[in-house]
Amino acid sequence: MADWWDADGHRHRKQFSSSQAAREHEHRETALAHAERASRELKMAKTGGGSRHPKETNNGTMEAAKGKLGVMIPGMGAVATTFVAGVEAIRKGLAKPIGSLTQMGTVRLGKRTEGRSPKVKEFVPLAGLDDLVFTGWDIFEDNMYDAASNAGVLDHRLLEQLKPFLSSITPRAAVFDHNYVKKIDGPNVKKGKTKMDLAEQLRADIRDFRKTSGASRLITMWCGSTESYIEPTAAHQSVKAFEKALAENDEMIAPSMIYAYASLMEGVPFANGAPNLTVDLPVMLELSRKNEAPICGKDFKTGQTLMKTVLAPAFKARLLGLSGWYSTNILGNRDGEVLDDPGSFKTKEESKLGVLEHILQPGLYPELYGNIFHKVRINYYPPRGDNKEGWDNIDIFGWLGYPMQIKVDFLCRDSILAAPIVLDLVLFLDLAQRCSQLKGLGIQEWLSFYFKSPMTVPGLYPEHDLFIQLMKLKNTLRHLKGEELITHLGLEYYD
Ligand SMILES: NC(=O)c1ccc[n+]([C@@H]2O[C@H](COP(=O)([O-])OP(=O)(O)OC[C@H]3O[C@@H](n4cnc5c(N)ncnc54)[C@H](O)[C@@H]3O)[C@@H](O)[C@H]2O)c1
Repeated sequence: MADWWDADGHRHRKQFSSSQAAREHEHRETALAHAERASRELKMAKTGGGSRHPKETNNGTMEAAKGKLGVMIPGMGAVATTFVAGVEAIRKGLAKPIGSLTQMGTVRLGKRTEGRSPKVKEFVPLAGLDDLVFTGWDIFEDNMYDAASNAGVLDHRLLEQLKPFLSSITPRAAVFDHNYVKKIDGPNVKKGKTKMDLAEQLRADIRDFRKTSGASRLITMWCGSTESYIEPTAAHQSVKAFEKALAENDEMIAPSMIYAYASLMEGVPFANGAPNLTVDLPVMLELSRKNEAPICGKDFKTGQTLMKTVLAPAFKARLLGLSGWYSTNILGNRDGEVLDDPGSFKTKEESKLGVLEHILQPGLYPELYGNIFHKVRINYYPPRGDNKEGWDNIDIFGWLGYPMQIKVDFLCRDSILAAPIVLDLVLFLDLAQRCSQLKGLGIQEWLSFYFKSPMTVPGLYPEHDLFIQLMKLKNTLRHLKGEELITHLGLEYYD
């Protein structure tokens, strides 16, 4: 007597002459079942009744992605233009969406023996790239073609092929305060007596875009410069206090918060790609929950921090000690120039520093991680443009305390790494707003995967380990679709 599992994960009991015969039977049955399932799914897809846009799942409802999705971007600089140009290049068949989990990633479902690994975009109902329409705000008047040319990330030949499309996206006037971004100034700025007036003007922009673009759903994605470091005050603690502060021009309200407030008031989800507080405030959590407009942030996890959140979990897994981690960067784009100001750098530094402590848990492992020297530097060096170089010197120690060193030199392209993150966040936040289980939660912690400083509810420490973050994301998708969560226990294969 032996057990075998069919492709749907059901256990069967049958008499076999040997365990070899049982295994052969299982393989044969599994292959047959997969062939049947594949032909069933193909038929359903052809008749339009496939699992592409399901309405009901075991875990709440999930609306289909019908109509256009409008993407609104405060800050039409290097990241924003590389993202929008990239989407258009992919739509035209000129390039591939490399680095994007929503476009190229898969989700394993069920047991390893089942061979079910649909693409993410086929598993959950995401907006298609053809349905994306764009607008943005910036303090400079350049359209997306000029801004992309100035950013110098994408080569001229590609940009020329996208010129008519990119030139058609012109920036709306920005809400800007020079005190929050000291290194730049521009002419395309809204005027208003109070910050509340400015918020009203942004809300009018949002309504206008909704109408003129014909979008059925909207998302706001902050790709603006890093603002000066501030800490939350009483003005940020509730919607009531915040609205009073807006009317009184409270200096602790940064421009990015005014965009966030305007979006959430219009019921539009908001993602924050910079390390500014922006939506990481009680007022925004309150608004987000109330208006069922999901929020997430902060600070895209792209180059150096991506590497840090891969290496640090490896040290902890093997119980290797860490005595120092010195990270330095040179970059020459406008972001680098903005970060040359101590106030903006402090915001970025805080975001980058938190990672190690949360992953390594010095409280639990004082002998290994109780005394780490962690330093992060960013140096503005114009000749490099967007092609950043991030160096890491890592001092670790092993068995009996013997020291070792690791050097990482990542010659990366900042915006090339950030653009697929923007695309995934746009599509996943839009999905969140269409899921009954997610839309009222406020913070979308399952999107921590994309951030250096993932937002969490107060009192909960953030998860920084990239692989835990990925598991959290994929398990969330499985959960929404009523699929079994994957624990990697795997004992059942050896029963
Ligand atoms: N590229 C990356 O790898 C990466 C990683 C993490 C975070 N970020 C963050 O993403 C943001 C964008 O980066 P980037 O390289 O595109 O920078 P960028 O300087 O090229 O673009 C930022 C744009 O925002 C505009 N801006 C500033 N304040 C504004 C406001 N109040 N309203 C509207 N527009 C405003 C600026 O004029 C500029 O055009 C930065 O905050 C950066 O720190 C980037």
